[in-house]
Amino acid sequence: MKKVLWIIGATLAVSIGLYPSLYFLFTEKFGLLLTKSPALLANEVWWTAFYTHIVFGGIALLVGWTQFNSQWRKKYLNTHRLVGKIYVFSVLLSGLGGGYIAFFATGGWLNSLGFGLLDIIWVYTTWRAFTDAKNKNIISHQRMMIYSYAACFAAVTLRLWLPILMVIFKDMEIAYGIVAWLCWVPNLFVAYRLTANIPLSKTAYSVENVQ
Ligand code: HEM
Repeated sequence: MKKVLWIIGATLAVSIGLYPSLYFLFTEKFGLLLTKSPALLANEVWWTAFYTHIVFGGIALLVGWTQFNSQWRKKYLNTHRLVGKIYVFSVLLSGLGGGYIAFFATGGWLNSLGFGLLDIIWVYTTWRAFTDAKNKNIISHQRMMIYSYAACFAAVTLRLWLPILMVIFKDMEIAYGIVAWLCWVPNLFVAYRLTANIPLSKTAYSVENVQ
């Protein structure tokens, strides 16, 4: 069962991780861009933030799930460290862009608040996880990375919830307003449940001790 969930999660992460490439493949206005005003679409800072966000967000999603396999981690520890740095770097850049474009989120300030809070949680837990690893506080590192990737996985859950909400409410504005929160709040509850069995100890553990 655990393996099936793992495969489903990885498949979704890879599929949505590749999704930003559609913004480069389509020459016509596509997806979210259809909801934006001409004034915003003329804003070069917004475009830079948008592309930074979607490209590095895609990379974070694509590489992140591989890090949770304890066998791979033990066998290829140096690769784990390298991929971890790529993930952290990608989250910081994507988070920077995401934080900026959140101010202009379709649907107004409540949606901006939902995405903005998610962004802060994503960047904070990722940075904490990174400094914990540097300080050899591996238990806290593991806990924080579970929260970080649960936040990252909001990109997947958003795209699963949105069509369901559209069927229920038949109104994009309502569906998008709900999904700006629904895409991440339950994910953090799942992360809370997953981390509940990991001790809170601040003691320095060796990577080999973490299952
Ligand atoms: C986890 C933290 C994240 C936050 C806070 C966040 C925030 C945002 C915001 C504010 C927007 C613009 C919404 C609007 O203007 O209405 C957006 C759009 C977008 N984001 Fe993220 N995002 C996150 C993660 C990701 C990840 C990991 C990916 C990788 C696939 C991603 C890919 C996209 C794409 C492709 C769009 C364009 C909208 C679409 O086509 O659905 N985001 N994001």
